Amino acid sequence: MQRWLTSVASLATVLVATGPGSAADAAVVPALCASIDRNIAHAQNWLEAGDFKSLSQAASGMELLAAVLQSQGDDDTWQEAIERLVAAAMAVRTSAQAEDPAAAGSALMNLAAANTALAKLTPTGQPLPPPKAKLRSLMLLMDGVRGEAKIALIAGNTEKAKNQAHVLSELGRVVSNLRSGERWARLSDEFTAASLAAAKSPSLDAQALRPLLRVVSQRCDACHDIR
Ligand code: HEC
Repeated sequence: MQRWLTSVASLATVLVATGPGSAADAAVVPALCASIDRNIAHAQNWLEAGDFKSLSQAASGMELLAAVLQSQGDDDTWQEAIERLVAAAMAVRTSAQAEDPAAAGSALMNLAAANTALAKLTPTGQPLPPPKAKLRSLMLLMDGVRGEAKIALIAGNTEKAKNQAHVLSELGRVVSNLRSGERWARLSDEFTAASLAAAKSPSLDAQALRPLLRVVSQRCDACHDIR
């Protein structure tokens, strides 16, 4: 099954790489799908290690990414494809919570297949408001995505690092939606703007991208400093 999953994941990567063009908004769906792929790989490792707590946490992150994908368009084709993804992500979490490795394994396969199918589609409807999220799941997800961006940058894969920044910009909209108040809105908008600046950086040079990602981290810290 490991091999099967790996090949589904790499197939999805190919599809993502050859997906919609480089227009800013068209890049969001492939970036989110690629992020789910990365998390599926992590989840597979947690499952093999029998670490159900980490598996459940990874599943919560994937549920959140699925919900963000869901908000990208209100058209029926997109919403139907998303339903499969959302259901599979939820099944990964519930089977992790039940500590059922067989169910978790098959839910992960369903999730990988749903994600691959989704990566071929483009939402055509109106965008929906960002989803509601639990603060802790959201923060742990953002921490993971930021870590992936750093690793990609160190590896010199700027395209991947920018993809992660795109995911962070979408998650910034979810953060913004979490609480009311002027200060929260300002801090989360500044975070989203910094993430977008990194995501849309025209340069493919790691040296040029590094300071932009540093600003993203500073925007994380700026919000944490006020609590
Ligand atoms: C607009 C505000 C805001 C932004 C932006 C923000 N955070 Fe947070 N973060 C919070 C709040 C509020 C908490 C919870 C504070 C507490 O527990 O006192 C938190 C908690 C956390 C935690 C601890 C979670 C736990 O309970 O274990 C991590 C990790 C974290 N954030 C990472 C990040 C990262 C990484 C970024 C940027 C990529 C980021 N945050 C951006 C507001 C923000």
